[in-house]
Amino acid sequence: RPLVTIPVLLQRARDGQPLVMTTAYDAVTARLADPVVDMVLVGDSVGNVCLGFDNTLPVSMAMMNHHLEAVARTKPRALLVADMPYLSYHLSLDDTLCNAGGFLQRGAAAVKLEGGKKRVETIRALVECEIPVMGHLGLTPQSVHAMGGFKVQGRGAHDALRILEDAHRLQEAGCFALVLEGIPSEVASRITESLSILTIGIGAGPNCSGQVLVLHDVLGLTQGHRPKFVRTYVDGFDVLQQALTHWAEDVRGGAFPSPAESYALPADVHAAVAA
Ligand code: KIV
Ligand code: NA
Repeated sequence: RPLVTIPVLLQRARDGQPLVMTTAYDAVTARLADPVVDMVLVGDSVGNVCLGFDNTLPVSMAMMNHHLEAVARTKPRALLVADMPYLSYHLSLDDTLCNAGGFLQRGAAAVKLEGGKKRVETIRALVECEIPVMGHLGLTPQSVHAMGGFKVQGRGAHDALRILEDAHRLQEAGCFALVLEGIPSEVASRITESLSILTIGIGAGPNCSGQVLVLHDVLGLTQGHRPKFVRTYVDGFDVLQQALTHWAEDVRGGAFPSPAESYALPADVHAAVAA
């Protein structure tokens, strides 16, 4: 499979092919996702999906690097994007460039960060250092406290126009793509038609250049509240737990392991050992 690059993605979008992105956090999820999708995102959603946090705010650069390295070792062909965690791009440009450049040195082809016009200077500096940037607008999970919860954004006229304006500013700043999360379809549609860069929707309706969902949500591995925009294709948690339960039953009932799952001594050695 040829390597998926940013120019390849832009061409696919111009050809009208909807792009697909999902998350991966380790080698297993990377091998599941890579052959299927155009872009693999090592999301800071690793915090709530895999690490047991309530939100993405406690996720650190050390955690992201750990997960990115695991994914990168599988040498994905999809475009590998790494999410900049909270406080990794807020403190200084030097710090931001080191963090983002470190992602590229670990095998990412692009970084993603959240926010609108207040990120323009940061994004310009990253692009200036040859670091491709994917923006993220609308429901930005790192703003959970500022938003007062995980709520759909851009429902009022003022908010909708602000997101549209932010999208244009991020394009001008040099982003090659934007994630649009938790906004009305009409707003995402308007953004997509008025920009030349890619829009990747999640809870943003069908009129985007592509769609992204968290892999564990698609596979039914996440427990608890599932947002309206998630479609789950298999009850992965139940299916996998049933399989595990069968194995436990077999162990407890003496059906596991069988001779085929065990090692035997050669006959002559067996005789000597048994004697
Ligand atoms: O962290 C993440 O998984 C994300 C996607 C849902 C866009 O930011
Ligand atoms: Na994220």
